[in-house]
Amino acid sequence: MSETIGFIGLGHLGLPMATNLLNAGYSLLVYNRTASKAESLVAQGAHLASRPVDAVTSGGIVASIVWDDAALESVVMSDGFLEHLGPGGIHLSMSTVLPETSKKLAAIHAHHDCAYVEAPIFGRPEAAVARNLWIPFAGPQQAKERVRPLLQAMGGQGIFDFGEEVGAATLVKLVGNFLIVSAGYSLREALSMLVSSKRQHNRWSHPYPLHVFCAIS
Ligand SMILES: NC(=O)c1ccc[n+]([C@@H]2O[C@H](COP(=O)([O-])OP(=O)(O)OC[C@H]3O[C@@H](n4cnc5c(N)ncnc54)[C@H](OP(=O)(O)O)[C@@H]3O)[C@@H](O)[C@H]2O)c1
Repeated sequence: MSETIGFIGLGHLGLPMATNLLNAGYSLLVYNRTASKAESLVAQGAHLASRPVDAVTSGGIVASIVWDDAALESVVMSDGFLEHLGPGGIHLSMSTVLPETSKKLAAIHAHHDCAYVEAPIFGRPEAAVARNLWIPFAGPQQAKERVRPLLQAMGGQGIFDFGEEVGAATLVKLVGNFLIVSAGYSLREALSMLVSSKRQHNRWSHPYPLHVFCAIS
């Protein structure tokens, strides 16, 4: 790969995704607030940046996956980040944030003639290692076409285009989290009702959860 990619945020999810990029042959400029987390990548040939702006190439692509809205905003607003990214540059933003934050940041990027593509991640760190991530994304069409191969190389097994209006993919991510968490709680409540009933009445000789799933399927 000829293009050097900036990668900011080497936490539980960012590190395996950046490692996948390196393994796919991309050159990486990596930044993490705690620099020691970049050691394994540097040992594999990535270059360590000491500030977010040092991971940015003018007109290039910089990916970020940091903890939350405040962390993302602090990266974007850090000294020289947007000015250096400049015309033709793309920020591929993969943190889970509010749609309002995404929209605000997209407008700030547009003011600097660079593109903001949101691409929040469905998948645990183990799924990143196994290259089994699901990724909704939204943003300017040309920018999305440029970053799609990167998302695949990072471990995206499914990449879903939610159009040009930033905020849409972030909303899908939040709704997905809501469904996952509420399904988990529902299952836990249902099973605990069954277990407590079994304890009280010793009613079933068969594996009772199985009866429920047969009944509702
Ligand atoms: N883990 C999951 O299963 C999972 C799944 C789907 C989506 N996500 C989302 O992916 C994002 C990253 O999650 P993660 O699990 O990788 O989190 P994590 O392991 O806690 O890593 C957070 C990253 O953000 C950086 N960070 C935090 N505050 C910062 C700040 N103020 N300025 C600059 N950098 C800052 C951290 O730097 P330091 O190393 O210096 O602390 C670290 O690189 C989150 O938005 C999360 O909701 C996570």
